[in-house]
Amino acid sequence: MMKNIAVFASGFGSNFEAIIEAANNGTLHANIALLVVDKPACYAVERAHNHNIPVFAFNPKDYDSKEAYEKEIVKQLHAYQIDLVALAGYMRLVGSVLLENYAHRIINIHPALLPSFPGTHSIEKAYNHGVKVFGITIHYVDAGMDTGPIIDQESFKKKEGESVEEVETRIHQLEHQLYPKVLERILNH
Ligand code: GRF
Repeated sequence: MMKNIAVFASGFGSNFEAIIEAANNGTLHANIALLVVDKPACYAVERAHNHNIPVFAFNPKDYDSKEAYEKEIVKQLHAYQIDLVALAGYMRLVGSVLLENYAHRIINIHPALLPSFPGTHSIEKAYNHGVKVFGITIHYVDAGMDTGPIIDQESFKKKEGESVEEVETRIHQLEHQLYPKVLERILNH
């Protein structure tokens, strides 16, 4: 039986697209069963529509608390029989309701070599710090900000004179290759 993945996003959704592509070309044996977004107008939603993937879009402001909207998310995840949650640019800390219901089944991708440069604007921060080796991390999600157990990492050396935009492009390319591979490994090996 193919497992069901829910992807959570807040923005552009290029990792979401890479995961869909891998499922379509047979390198990832899973159903991309649901997109969850906290920003109903984000571009990831359009990508879901293009691929006929159901979307649960919510506005956190419509709820009294994180617990309240996460209860609603968990209902949706159960309805779609989700086995694994893949955060891909979801710009919120995951709370206790999701963590308890999907223990060890929520993973995240981060555009830096954790534990360096957690949080937002990591690529820029690493670039401005002058690091010579850039990379990405895929990890299990816990209650902290990008602190959970590391599953895999990839890295590359900055080229002489490479701009932050060029580094960013290489980081995203690396993400798009690694995320589907790690999902396949977790689900099917
Ligand atoms: C990626 O760089 C990911 O590592 C970070 O947010 C970005 C999302 O990009 N968590 P996209 O929405 O998948 O294009």
